[in-house]
Amino acid sequence: MKEILVTGGLGYIGSHTVVELMMKNYNVSIIDNLSNSEIFILENIEKITGRNPIFFNIDLTDYNKTNSCFTKKNYDGVIHFAAFKSVSESVEYPEKYYSNNLNSLLNILRCMKENKVDNIVFSSSCTVYGQPDDLPVSEKFPFKEAESPYARTKQISENIIKDFVNSTSFLSGISLRYFNPVGAHHSGLIGELPIGIPDNLVPYITQTAAGIRKELQVFGDDYDTHDGTAIRDYIHVEDLAEAHIAALERMCENKMDSEYEYYNIGTGVGNSVLDVVKSFERVNKLKLNYSVIERRSGDIEKIFSDCRISNKKLGWATKKGLDEMMNSAWKWQNNISSFLKG
Ligand code: UD1
Repeated sequence: MKEILVTGGLGYIGSHTVVELMMKNYNVSIIDNLSNSEIFILENIEKITGRNPIFFNIDLTDYNKTNSCFTKKNYDGVIHFAAFKSVSESVEYPEKYYSNNLNSLLNILRCMKENKVDNIVFSSSCTVYGQPDDLPVSEKFPFKEAESPYARTKQISENIIKDFVNSTSFLSGISLRYFNPVGAHHSGLIGELPIGIPDNLVPYITQTAAGIRKELQVFGDDYDTHDGTAIRDYIHVEDLAEAHIAALERMCENKMDSEYEYYNIGTGVGNSVLDVVKSFERVNKLKLNYSVIERRSGDIEKIFSDCRISNKKLGWATKKGLDEMMNSAWKWQNNISSFLKG
């Protein structure tokens, strides 16, 4: 059985990927410092899979502690999720983002190099493209000026991985550039846990429906789109989790065209804010309080992915639509308070 190390494995996307790996009979070790996750997620992973991952509560910016995990197992691969991810916070505290996100990655790569671990899958974002000139966004598009320190850490991280891969004869890397991950595991046992007031659309919708927020504010309805609201490529987190396993298998089976590759991970379909709201209302038979206010500064009008290359090279494609995303997100929201209590 293959041994995989997952950093940030109790976080939103990490936990879904851990479940998917364990269901596919991989042995999983998790490193997570619980800075943006809860320990009950580990118990719920065990409930879903009937298996126990190894768990290290370690801060990846501590090289010696990180390296001690690498000496316990011979890992076949690492999936690196652990990073801070708030765009607005990164604008206020760039030092926090550069220090944590880059030092964690450097330590992981150093440990991989020293312990001869071959394969890394990196959690990147479509934010590396900046404001794209054309749609859909293809991997062939260059990086443009980063829109935030968070975005810049993703661009720099991809370049760091490329340099490390070039520096050894054994390292391979794949960066997955996610579009907008939403939804939750169909069991309702794991999902996104935003701290405080959510920045992102779907947690804001579910918290509004749950009565935690008064109303959703739709940021602008004067965009050049079918209903005036902005368009994004929302992807079900379970489909996204599967993309990581596809990437890992491509590396482990030596199918790579070059030692470093990068892929768009989305559905290829754009949905507007109001499409999301309507789907949420329809599948959950609810009415959502919302009002339209002015545009949010920094938002772009539309973005969605061209996924033809990732579909072909990874042998992967999304299976779930917007309704399943909205249904699972609501199921998860209904469970969160009972998990947090206890
Ligand atoms: C944001 C991040 C992006 C990150 C992604 C993770 C920014 C500028 N970008 O993207 O880097 O990878 O989250 O999923 O923060 N909306 C509302 N009302 C709300 C919240 C959002 O109308 O209360 C709208 C937004 O204007 C946007 C859409 O919903 O049109 C999606 O917003 P959001 O979930 O924040 O994601 P992004 O802005 O696409």
